[in-house]
Amino acid sequence: MTTSVLYVCLGNICRSPTAEGILRKLAGDRDLIIDSAGTGAWHVGDPPDPRAIAEARQRGIDISGLRARQVQAEDFHRFDQILAMDRSNLRDLERIRPSGSKADLRLCLSDASGLGQTDVPDPYYDGGFEQAYELIEAATKGLLQRI
Ligand code: 4NP
Repeated sequence: MTTSVLYVCLGNICRSPTAEGILRKLAGDRDLIIDSAGTGAWHVGDPPDPRAIAEARQRGIDISGLRARQVQAEDFHRFDQILAMDRSNLRDLERIRPSGSKADLRLCLSDASGLGQTDVPDPYYDGGFEQAYELIEAATKGLLQRI
């Protein structure tokens, strides 16, 4: 059966498109539907941040074709797994979650519990794209074992 995975951060231009690219690469021939979105609407229609594109490119992943969109209540019916990048994103998602929706909503890093970290720090203002990539990669490997 196809599993669908949605990554969510604030802007959908740094962390969640990175996660989308990593999962697409690591999923291999697994039958997955993979997408990402932001809780905010500031960057809707924009490509990923050039720093996120560069970090992914260094690891052999091209995320330049992705475009930002805002998460919608409907996503809770469409996706099996919704993975929030930090606790603030998780709170925002819990607020718009419709009752009776199917999605399993949790923190992205809950699939990398050995790291002892709950949030992927927002790299937009202070940088940290390399760290974000590595945290998300570890969680993605954990996700692929769980689902
Ligand atoms: P992201 O990073 O949530 O990882 O995509 C951000 C991108 C943009 C903004 C904040 C965080 N912003 O405030 O515009």
